[in-house]
Amino acid sequence: MQTYLRGRDMITTQEWTKHELDTVLDVAFDLKRKRALGEPHPYLDNKVLAMLFFFSSTRTRASFEAGMAQLGGHAMFLDSTSTQIGHGDTWKEIGDILGRYNDGIAIRQVDWGIGNDYIRAVAEASRTPVLNMQCDWYHPFQALADLQTILEHKGDPKNLTINVSYAYAASYQKPLSVPQSLILLMTRYGANVRLTRPPEFKLMPEVVAQAEENAKKAHGSFEIVEDFDEGMAGADVVYAKSWGSMLTTDDLDESAEISKQYTDWITDERRMELADQDAIYMHPLPADRNVEVTDGVIDGRWSAVFDQAENRLHAQKAVMALTM
Ligand code: CP
Repeated sequence: MQTYLRGRDMITTQEWTKHELDTVLDVAFDLKRKRALGEPHPYLDNKVLAMLFFFSSTRTRASFEAGMAQLGGHAMFLDSTSTQIGHGDTWKEIGDILGRYNDGIAIRQVDWGIGNDYIRAVAEASRTPVLNMQCDWYHPFQALADLQTILEHKGDPKNLTINVSYAYAASYQKPLSVPQSLILLMTRYGANVRLTRPPEFKLMPEVVAQAEENAKKAHGSFEIVEDFDEGMAGADVVYAKSWGSMLTTDDLDESAEISKQYTDWITDERRMELADQDAIYMHPLPADRNVEVTDGVIDGRWSAVFDQAENRLHAQKAVMALTM
């Protein structure tokens, strides 16, 4: 267990050691237990987290805000469009000034080619920890909550086959951040990670290379398959969600056109029957119901999505309590 994490940024789990991540999980389970028992846990009494959103959110905003209140602190909601960012406040003003007012700065900026750079620049300028609430490359808090959920439902990820799969969605071209954070974190924990995606929906080569390296070090495995049904075969965890073809085109309309070839990549009951008989279905939400996944699956016996959403609260509280 690592006991001194005060002041650390959480931009990607890849920058935290396995011992440090184990500490986060240990604290997350403890905080979940404390909340279940109604035990007060005001570890961040009088502390304030600034939350800056450049993109909409249900779970992330609500869980960070609830989490700060439960830890005895306060969360300040800032919508980028109602700040002076449009009138000249750069990453430097945001990092330096919000860092002086607050004890942490959390940011969601998912624009392709911009988000991660922006969050890192704010972190450079800030005297307080910066937490990545999702960028174009990573969604670390989602992946931590996902790992907590897999530990609860399936036990040690070592020797589990986790199918991180593309699925079709019509609503919008979703960032690569969830599948990229998942393949990075699950390989750290020795899982057999299977990335299933059409050829136009590749993930960033440097992230895939890191996942391969992680798998080697943890004595797990990492493979890529391009057939939706093949990805499901025998999987213990089916994590199928949509993302955009950002590595194929910068044009989101073109990405939407490309994706229309794959409207049959929907997680339905037949596909779940191809997985292990005790398989679970996961999705970070929001899902395009009956496009990306059928109601029968997301509301059915396989689904862990509501536990997964709940664990956002506990995993985030753990990181905030340890770093702020
Ligand atoms: N999973 C997730 O990040 O949800 P929101 O977009 O609603 O925050």
